[in-house]
Amino acid sequence: MVDRNIGVLISGRGSNLQSIIDAVADGRLDARIALVVSNKADAYGLERARNARIETLVLDHRAYQSREAFDQAMVDALRAREVQLVCLAGFMRLVSATFVNAFPNRILNIHPALLPSFPGLHAQRQALEHGVRFSGATVHMVDTDLDAGPIVMQAVVPVFTDDTEDTLSARILAEEHRIYPEAIGKILAGGWRLDGRRLVFG
Ligand code: GRF
Repeated sequence: MVDRNIGVLISGRGSNLQSIIDAVADGRLDARIALVVSNKADAYGLERARNARIETLVLDHRAYQSREAFDQAMVDALRAREVQLVCLAGFMRLVSATFVNAFPNRILNIHPALLPSFPGLHAQRQALEHGVRFSGATVHMVDTDLDAGPIVMQAVVPVFTDDTEDTLSARILAEEHRIYPEAIGKILAGGWRLDGRRLVFG
């Protein structure tokens, strides 16, 4: 089971964390959530983890002198639990090379847009303001550039003329919850390789 140990990093609500917890609980995802790390002590996701009897750890980034020192503390905690794959789920910190190099091609993130469109904050608002007819969700590997690593899975949703940031976000979030556990399962299952930045299965 050790090779299926995952760590989840959060900063807030944790609904994507919940979708992973649920997928593990009902057998759709063959993994063990070994640790949930939050940089915010009041993140609601911590409660979700505790309810599921998953170990939690709060590491307040403000207590560290540098991004690298904070990232090294996360690396140490994840390695101590023999985590093989790290899943960022609403984790609102950029990760440095210290973190990325500790888990090469072993860090995933979920982003609420069809990357490479609309990276960064408020992706749903960016999509609305741009006037796109479709947006969606992207699971990608994490490198040191923001929302830029190889794409693992995407899902598309329509954007309607009467959408607000809230209605579009809710439509995208439902897809996030569907594809993130599936993408984690695909990466854990192996049998993939990177061809440039293209993830190739089989
Ligand atoms: C999600 O929209 C995710 O795509 C983005 O941050 C949000 C986190 O939501 N990275 P939650 O904490 O998983 O509910």
